[in-house]
Amino acid sequence: MPPEIVSAAPHSPWKHDPAHFGAPADAADTPSRRTALGLLGGTRGQVLDVGCGGGSACIALADAAGMLVGLDHDPGMLAAFERDCAARGIAHRTVLGAWPEAADQAGQADVVVCHHVGYNTPELAPFLSALTTAARGGVVMELTARHPMAWLDPLWQRFHGLDRSAPATADDAVAVLVELGIRPSAIRWERGARLPEDPAWVARRLCLPPDRVPEVAAALEDLPRRPRSVVTLTW
Ligand SMILES: C[S@@+](CC[C@H](N)C(=O)[O-])C[C@H]1O[C@@H](n2cnc3c(N)ncnc32)[C@H](O)[C@@H]1O
Repeated sequence: MPPEIVSAAPHSPWKHDPAHFGAPADAADTPSRRTALGLLGGTRGQVLDVGCGGGSACIALADAAGMLVGLDHDPGMLAAFERDCAARGIAHRTVLGAWPEAADQAGQADVVVCHHVGYNTPELAPFLSALTTAARGGVVMELTARHPMAWLDPLWQRFHGLDRSAPATADDAVAVLVELGIRPSAIRWERGARLPEDPAWVARRLCLPPDRVPEVAAALEDLPRRPRSVVTLTW
């Protein structure tokens, strides 16, 4: 995003509401959860969740884990994670910091999960290397097949006259892993809707003020819905 558009925006286009990343009461049976449970192998080991948000990736493993460690650079997200773990009686610890800089504070875990983080990471190789170093048993990374905001690219052209470059994909992450000498296994699947797609939320992603929301609503009528394809990478 051009800096002049971001600096004129009334709200950060990147900041998310912790309410949208809470863990559901009952964990969904997804390929990411099944893979992580397989890596834990009934050991009740430690799980590190990098970019945990409200903790949906690791709380889904709580019944099989002895301890959850949630790391996030957003204090509001970590507070939501802590509240939920406390309410469910889950043994947990939090690390406030950015990955990979805060990796030492997190230490090693039996399984490292990292769901929907890294899309806006300019240097993906150190990010992925640190995940690998932190995991005694394995890493489970879940990503959308294409950058999760790429479906809004036509609206960047419409509202800002901006042609966005081709979006990053999960295949790009695989290519970086291969450059690091790692060949992950990949499972492609479709997940249900999670983030909002309403005009006010979209206006914020587009760096537009609230008075443009009605125009965004009209533009959304013409736009195909957000794709649901995700990929579970394991190594
Ligand atoms: C899209 S949310 C996903 C949250 C959660 N993993 C999930 O799938 O529900 C991305 C989260 O990663 C955090 N995050 C993004 N980049 C990060 C980084 N480099 N270090 C630590 N946290 C990061 C954000 O603050 C946010 O909570």
